[in-house]
Amino acid sequence: MSFARPAGEKVVLGVGNLDAQIMFVGEAPGAEEEIQGEPFVGPAGQLLTKMIGGMGLKRPDVYIGNIMNWRPELPLSDGGTQIGNRPPTQEEMLYCLPFLRAQIEIVQPSLLVALGSTAAQGLLGFGTFKALGEVRGRWKEFAGKPLMVTYHPSYILRSQTNRSKRMIWEDLLKVMERAPLPISDKQRGYFLEK
Ligand code: URA
Repeated sequence: MSFARPAGEKVVLGVGNLDAQIMFVGEAPGAEEEIQGEPFVGPAGQLLTKMIGGMGLKRPDVYIGNIMNWRPELPLSDGGTQIGNRPPTQEEMLYCLPFLRAQIEIVQPSLLVALGSTAAQGLLGFGTFKALGEVRGRWKEFAGKPLMVTYHPSYILRSQTNRSKRMIWEDLLKVMERAPLPISDKQRGYFLEK
């Protein structure tokens, strides 16, 4: 059973394979995630699941967490529910970071993937970059693990072009190469403009 409640009242920790090789780190739960108690189950999550499928994996093969563990609060609408989301503040992320570190300790993934600017800021440190383009597609490090920074799947929901899909895909190809995972010619060619 699900019911509406103000944001911030339900903790949503990561899910997935405790022996996962790859750990994805997003921003924070939204409305759907808060109801289901699982990260990335709304529209952006469905896209992430497809991206994982494109890598030849299934959702239960990887681990999926967030930089913040509950839905960041906004003033409630007249109906008493929260409409919309906001990114977590630096303070909120710093508060939640130990929980992410603990999940990394338990799962011991060989690779981390930061999804979007907020997760990248939280992991790399505030002020380490101005625009995501400065760090995306590059290997960084967090908690002693190689970290690939890429766009958040919601970016694709806003800009459904082959160009934007290809940008994320190229970052994921780097993750597959480093894992290593098998890569077919078909996979190498996904989203290339004809
Ligand atoms: N966006 C995120 O960054 N995390 C979620 O869990 C859902 C949407």
